[in-house]
Amino acid sequence: MEISLIFFSPTHTGRTIAEAVAAGFASGADTLRNIDLTLPSGSRKTIEAGDIAIFAAPVYGGRVAETAVERFRQVRAAEPGVTPAILTVVYGNRDYEDALLELQDIAVRQGFVPLSAGAFIGEHSYSRPKEGRPIAAGRPDEADQAQARHLGAASREKYEKGTPQPLTVKGHIPYKTKGPSTPATPETDPALCTGCGTCAEICPTEVISLTEAGTAVSDLTGCIKCCACVKFCPADARRFDTPYTEKLFTHFSARREPELFL
Ligand SMILES: Cc1cc2nc3c(=O)[nH]c(=O)nc-3n(C[C@H](O)[C@H](O)[C@H](O)COP(=O)(O)O)c2cc1C
Repeated sequence: MEISLIFFSPTHTGRTIAEAVAAGFASGADTLRNIDLTLPSGSRKTIEAGDIAIFAAPVYGGRVAETAVERFRQVRAAEPGVTPAILTVVYGNRDYEDALLELQDIAVRQGFVPLSAGAFIGEHSYSRPKEGRPIAAGRPDEADQAQARHLGAASREKYEKGTPQPLTVKGHIPYKTKGPSTPATPETDPALCTGCGTCAEICPTEVISLTEAGTAVSDLTGCIKCCACVKFCPADARRFDTPYTEKLFTHFSARREPELFL
């Protein structure tokens, strides 16, 4: 069968989890297909009845990141109610609240049958290890990825047995109301920026451009604060100063562990 990894993952933690789940699920004859929705693409994708989908989305404000919600609409099961899906959310060691339930509802709306699910921990977008403020730094680590492979392997067993029981994941309806978005955007230190354009290329909402002087600038309107530009700037020239870094470091540094739903 074909295993489709469907993810929106600006800082790559969700992608790592989806890959580990797929590695645990796959057997010799299976093929893997990446449906990377991190950058806008616009084209529709269909998953065939005999195949399987693995979804991965980041948690933003206790919910599925809004851009992921929009982009997952591009993916459908060819035959509704037949194709199984493994659902994963990745959160920055605070909490995932209603995100997994929301992802399950999205998958069902797109015609999939939820097979299993997991909530995993990834380094928080606002983690600043170099400034002595790490939040889940280095995660998902080897232990997290082993849990994700286990989710994949256990899902395979469940799938082989057939007629899975309806899945129950943690979460509430109505979903958590989102708070206001932080009124700021990552900024560039012009002394460090080399104008290489990496940030503009990887920005999931394409809101970074280069000035005539060759310095990266973000448009606040469309910025989702994912911090991909901060994490992956080769010159370390991007910064996002938010009071959340200190708050999260102070209150949510105690290690949380993945939760699996089978
Ligand atoms: C705008 C925003 C909101 C976030 N909200 C939460 C949250 O509610 N709970 C949490 O634990 N982590 C939260 N995070 C952290 C991300 O869920 C975490 O860094 C995740 O690993 C990012 O996934 P990715 O690497 O696939 O992009 C938030 C991050 C951003 C940018």
